[in-house]
Amino acid sequence: MKEKIEILINEIDSISIHSNDELDSFRIKYLSKKGILNNLFEDFKKVGKDQKKETGLLINQLKTRVEEIVITNQEALRKNSNKKTIAIKNSSLTGEKIEIGARHPLMSTQNRIIEILKKIGYVFTSGPEIEDDWHNFSGLNFPKNHPARDMQDTFFISENIALRTHTSSVQVRLMESQKLPIRAIMPGRVYRNEAISARSHCFFNQIEGIYIDKNISFSDLKQTLYFFVKELFGKDFNIRFRPSYFPFTEPSAEMDISCIICKGKGCNICKYTGWVEILGCGMIDPSVLKLNNIDNKTYTGFAFGMGIERITMLLYDIKDLRIFSNNDARFLKQLI
Ligand code: PHE
Repeated sequence: MKEKIEILINEIDSISIHSNDELDSFRIKYLSKKGILNNLFEDFKKVGKDQKKETGLLINQLKTRVEEIVITNQEALRKNSNKKTIAIKNSSLTGEKIEIGARHPLMSTQNRIIEILKKIGYVFTSGPEIEDDWHNFSGLNFPKNHPARDMQDTFFISENIALRTHTSSVQVRLMESQKLPIRAIMPGRVYRNEAISARSHCFFNQIEGIYIDKNISFSDLKQTLYFFVKELFGKDFNIRFRPSYFPFTEPSAEMDISCIICKGKGCNICKYTGWVEILGCGMIDPSVLKLNNIDNKTYTGFAFGMGIERITMLLYDIKDLRIFSNNDARFLKQLI
């Protein structure tokens, strides 16, 4: 019996296990109820007294070896299978293509406008989209219950708080917080409770400009805007100012350019008039300066505001402004 056990010990020392299946059959062969070790223990009962000690030691030696082999192979197989799941099968294959994002066309236009106005000394700033009554209306000379408030259908959050209807709210914020003179541009999103169509949306983007200093006149406003539109659209068009009304500017005007799509002949962009309105402007009403604690005997100023969607539609000949917020990559990619 001793010889038999010694042979087994030698045999298992040279065994090599490559898979879980092989490990299972090894375990069953040696350690199961009817396996080699249990059989040896059965036979051990019949061993004569003089042989018991030595045979017992050999069986235990075999049992310990078998158990060691099971444990070490179990570990090795587990580590190997972890490795396999993260192993790259063929490292020479090309990877997946990474899509590179692009700037939204509205933001490209916004950046172009900012760059042009920066050249003539305007500094960039911004204000909050959720505003109180003072900054959006009262501080801009919209009296309470005045019909001028209905010019802009408002999304109210509470009686005194609303989503801003225009970036002119930032004018008030600058007048109350900045030292004079002020020369700034403030872009941002605005909200109006309007039906969504090809030409209007319940949210859109504006850029506001404001210049307050001593001796600022309407001709400064005109020159600034002439320079601005020529830089933005080139030189091949006409410009006109039309009198208009805003509660916070006096006099007020709107600026039109001859339609750059049809060259003034008439198309659906200019509604067959040959002209497109691109911004509202005017001299800041002295009463607005006073409301914001600015000495209106010493200081005058002008302001202008424009819709970024409208200008982008003109620049890229886009007929439906809903496309800006649909998030359709096919559209966005075309304008990179
Ligand atoms: N806030 C005005 C609007 O949204 C535009 C404007 C800005 C007009 C500045 C005059 C001066 O219609």
